[in-house]
Amino acid sequence: MKEMTHMQKNLLIALSGLCVVYILSSLSGILNPTASSISSSNVDIIVYKSETCGCCNDWIDHLEDNNFTVKTYNRDDMNLIKLQLGGVPDKLQSCHTAKIGDYIVEGHVHAEQIARMLKDKPDIKGLSVPGMPMGSPGMEGYRNDPYDVLAFNDDGSFAIYASYNQ
Ligand code: CU
Ligand code: CU
Repeated sequence: MKEMTHMQKNLLIALSGLCVVYILSSLSGILNPTASSISSSNVDIIVYKSETCGCCNDWIDHLEDNNFTVKTYNRDDMNLIKLQLGGVPDKLQSCHTAKIGDYIVEGHVHAEQIARMLKDKPDIKGLSVPGMPMGSPGMEGYRNDPYDVLAFNDDGSFAIYASYNQ
């Protein structure tokens, strides 16, 4: 009889342990919403850039200032990366290339346009700011040149998604 009580005690301890695990796991589900329910915050954006690119780092700072969680990979073969991510049209290429969900973000795209794309979910391949226009995020300096954010498609076609410094 004494042994039974001991076993029951162990069972009770094991069960309450399971309960704690269960409660913790359901709590973490509440604290870490799934990808479908996120806005611009707590988003993982993966950025590929060359190690020596200073303006790329400044653009990453801009993303982090806007609550994006950034994962960065330094790569020598940026042309290959652009191809592997599904292709960025030649004319639309810039220094860094990023991936967020199924979208590509090429160059110095403002965080507010990335957030808008994630919210509206347009049927496009991604956004690009071709080249490196002065006055775009990460390219702040002595001039604010007018530039467009372009939405591009699989076939290389594109349209103006937003305009800055007009
Ligand atoms: Cu750049
Ligand atoms: Cu860059």
